[in-house]
Amino acid sequence: MTSQTTTADAAGTWDLGDLRVNRIGFGAMRLPQTGEAFAQDAVPRDRGQAIGVLRRAVELGVNHIDTAAFYFSPLRSANELIRTALAPYPEDLVITTKVGPGRAPSGEWLEHATPELLRGQVEENLRQLGRDHLDVVNLRIVGTASIAERFGALAELRDAGLVRHLGISNVTPEHLAEARAIAPVVCVQNMYGIGVRPEHDGFVRACGEQGIAFVPFYSIAGTGRQAGASGTEHEEVRAVARAHGASPAQVRLAWTLARGPHVLAIPGTGDPDHLEANVAAGALHLSAEERSVLEAVHHG
Ligand SMILES: NC(=O)c1ccc[n+]([C@@H]2O[C@H](COP(=O)([O-])OP(=O)(O)OC[C@H]3O[C@@H](n4cnc5c(N)ncnc54)[C@H](OP(=O)(O)O)[C@@H]3O)[C@@H](O)[C@H]2O)c1
Repeated sequence: MTSQTTTADAAGTWDLGDLRVNRIGFGAMRLPQTGEAFAQDAVPRDRGQAIGVLRRAVELGVNHIDTAAFYFSPLRSANELIRTALAPYPEDLVITTKVGPGRAPSGEWLEHATPELLRGQVEENLRQLGRDHLDVVNLRIVGTASIAERFGALAELRDAGLVRHLGISNVTPEHLAEARAIAPVVCVQNMYGIGVRPEHDGFVRACGEQGIAFVPFYSIAGTGRQAGASGTEHEEVRAVARAHGASPAQVRLAWTLARGPHVLAIPGTGDPDHLEANVAAGALHLSAEERSVLEAVHHG
């Protein structure tokens, strides 16, 4: 498929509260380094390349960028790169960040933030991005414990005007119900893709039924997770890709978008060609037959 003229609105738009975004967005986790994210010996990404990818993304119509203060390598920070590349920010740009996890300046992981520490993490993002408020903040958690206190702390920051909208990440349906009883939730960001968490299908649908965006991560990387795409792929995915003159990564993105109008893509890359391909995937329409072939792969 050709990627020349496709822009990030090809798959339509979705409203995160009062903020309208194109369904093809961009994830910033791959920008600070080449290779595996969070590796202690990570090789910093070429600064010019990272900035070029961000600017090209916006040129292609990307107006939803996912980031975090803990996305950094020894010499690069995703938030700093975003600010350098894009400030003063376009009016329609929605930057979504996440809090909860934290890393020491040396890169070591810290304990997840307590409710009291979440404010500092929000402020850290504000300082790094050079903004007075954050568009969307996801509470990123591990485990199944209650999120009421932590989400409540973020709801207070929302009331104070530091945060416009809230989301939650790495969560269960029970967490979503708990959060919604405290404050509106505009998005759920969880790991999901072809063959990744088929048991999550019902939750993905349920988010749509509640008017909440579902934003999958690792939808290309799959089981490669933070190490990235492995290069191995199911023959069925390859075959569908060949039929469209597309790549398996594009088929993976198109498949997630086909799960419902509320599903947003945030593919991560530091490669300018992959960026163009990922945006172009918004125009890739899978037939009913292709979707059923991929459904079988998804369910193993
Ligand atoms: N909430 C959470 O817990 C959480 C966790 C992880 C990630 N995230 C967010 O979700 C975003 C998406 O995850 P991700 O960055 O792992 O993205 P992904 O889209 O699943 O996969 C990225 C991997 O695929 C490669 N890739 C990207 N586009 C490609 C293409 N067109 N063809 C071939 N390979 C391609 C990338 O390498 P190249 O750089 O070589 O393209 C990288 O190895 C992250 O950037 C981050 O913002 C959130």
